[in-house]
Amino acid sequence: MSITQTPAWKALESHLEGGMRDVHLKTLFAEGERFTDFSRQAAGITLDLSKQRMRRETLDKLLALAEEAGVKEAIQQLTRGDAINLTEGRPALHTALRLPADAELELDGRDVVADVHASLAKMRTLVERLHAGQWKGATGKVITDVVNLGVGGSDLGPLMVSSALRGYRVEVDNPVAVHFASTIDGTQLADVLPKLDPETTIFIYSSKSFGTIDTKANADTALVWLNRGTGVEEAALKAQHFIGVSTKPEKMAEWGFAEEHRVLFWDWVGGRYSLWSGIGLGIAIEVGMDNFQRLLAGAHQMDEHFRHAPLADNLPVLFALAGIWNVNFLDIRSLAVLPYDGRLKYLPGYFQQLEMESNGKSVTNAGAPVDYSTCPVLWGEVGPNGQHAFYQLLHQGTQAVACDFIAPINRYDEIENDALRESFKTQHRLALANCFAQSRVLMLGDEAIKSEQTPPPYKRYAGNQPSSTILLDSITPESVGALVALYEHKVFVQGVIWDIDSFDQWGVELGKKIATETEAILLSGEGLDQLDDSSRHLVERVRRG
Ligand code: F6P
Repeated sequence: MSITQTPAWKALESHLEGGMRDVHLKTLFAEGERFTDFSRQAAGITLDLSKQRMRRETLDKLLALAEEAGVKEAIQQLTRGDAINLTEGRPALHTALRLPADAELELDGRDVVADVHASLAKMRTLVERLHAGQWKGATGKVITDVVNLGVGGSDLGPLMVSSALRGYRVEVDNPVAVHFASTIDGTQLADVLPKLDPETTIFIYSSKSFGTIDTKANADTALVWLNRGTGVEEAALKAQHFIGVSTKPEKMAEWGFAEEHRVLFWDWVGGRYSLWSGIGLGIAIEVGMDNFQRLLAGAHQMDEHFRHAPLADNLPVLFALAGIWNVNFLDIRSLAVLPYDGRLKYLPGYFQQLEMESNGKSVTNAGAPVDYSTCPVLWGEVGPNGQHAFYQLLHQGTQAVACDFIAPINRYDEIENDALRESFKTQHRLALANCFAQSRVLMLGDEAIKSEQTPPPYKRYAGNQPSSTILLDSITPESVGALVALYEHKVFVQGVIWDIDSFDQWGVELGKKIATETEAILLSGEGLDQLDDSSRHLVERVRRG
């Protein structure tokens, strides 16, 4: 039975038609206090949903929907390793990557916790060798730079966290800089290589499947560059200048990584859920293994909250339900992620993959087409910069857009010089003031200013754009871990309610197949007649040069 046929869904529809569809946020705020009802705290994170277009009754009905959809049982299935990724017949056990060493979890008779911690120990050895200056390249020089080659989850996670935790770079004998290159066209690699010395650079070949053409193309070019720069033959370069991170041990061995440079993870980790595994090696090289494990601990704290808190107090569940209300009832299918901290600039891109690759689906677990909307279009930018770019549309455009405002409460306490600290703290206060001002104006519209006269139409603000505000006590490894886990679990709960498989991504496969065929046509010119008129002319234009 479709979720839309359940009594809980129907009750929400009646509730919507009974006055909620058109109620303005300013009316809801005029009705009385909201913060206590609509905000919760856990794992160093405050989630305020009071600027969502809900009444207490709405939330109660949404919680009934979560009960009816079996969210409680689904959380247990997720965390105990049931094969909930139905189309691929396997678990989605990213939570296991954050379990402490003394936890217990078995999968098909294997001790998952022991495997995870053996992999973490291997990462620690690699990181410490680099930091101690003990890792030498093929010509005997100490390694100073690492380039992470990966795409999607094998790039976005480490890139996002490395940026967020910039303040946690460790002081070691041999600080190693980490760079990222993902694009298939080679532009990012072409930009970074001239700054590096082939004798002192190694590459992390990050690929869950070890079959992604984007990453293979970058690794091929890196090998050519290393060979040209060092004169060393390919096999030695593969052994000494590359670390492989993958779920495919045979493919890594066949490619030629040295055994001690192969970091394994498992097919029960989704690509977009993999930053907690060896895919996070770049993070660990920048901030050290201890801080990497603090990141895992923060995520684990959110996992524990998710597993044990009642639905009505459960941050990921409440966050998910606010999204369901927006998408399925208020018909708001655009979601902007707006961090008010420059260190979080890669969050929108990271959450875009997490949400849209997970829940951009239109077929239920039973294979039926859905008769309701699923994942919203997610986009975003560092908030204060967005204010000078696209917020115009949020305030006066014709689209309904839900927003997530994300900011740390504390910033710059570590700066020793009083004057400089105060100046930076002023900047942080400005950022927070802008964050709160924007969510307020988006909510209230004109009501935010007390004015005697009605402004002309072009100066009017309709308001009524809903938003969530997420405050982190400060940006630490733990809080970043908890924040990402909050979103992961939100996405999961929404997937449960939408009855879709949040852990596959079949929608990306056809494009890969057709791209392989198209490349052959571009190269040889043979098979042009198989293409449609537009594609044929484009290929012909390129072939003419
Ligand atoms: O094409 C999509 C995808 O499979 C993502 O799910 C994944 O994060 C990315 O490509 C990279 O895949 P891999 O780590 O296997 O190279």
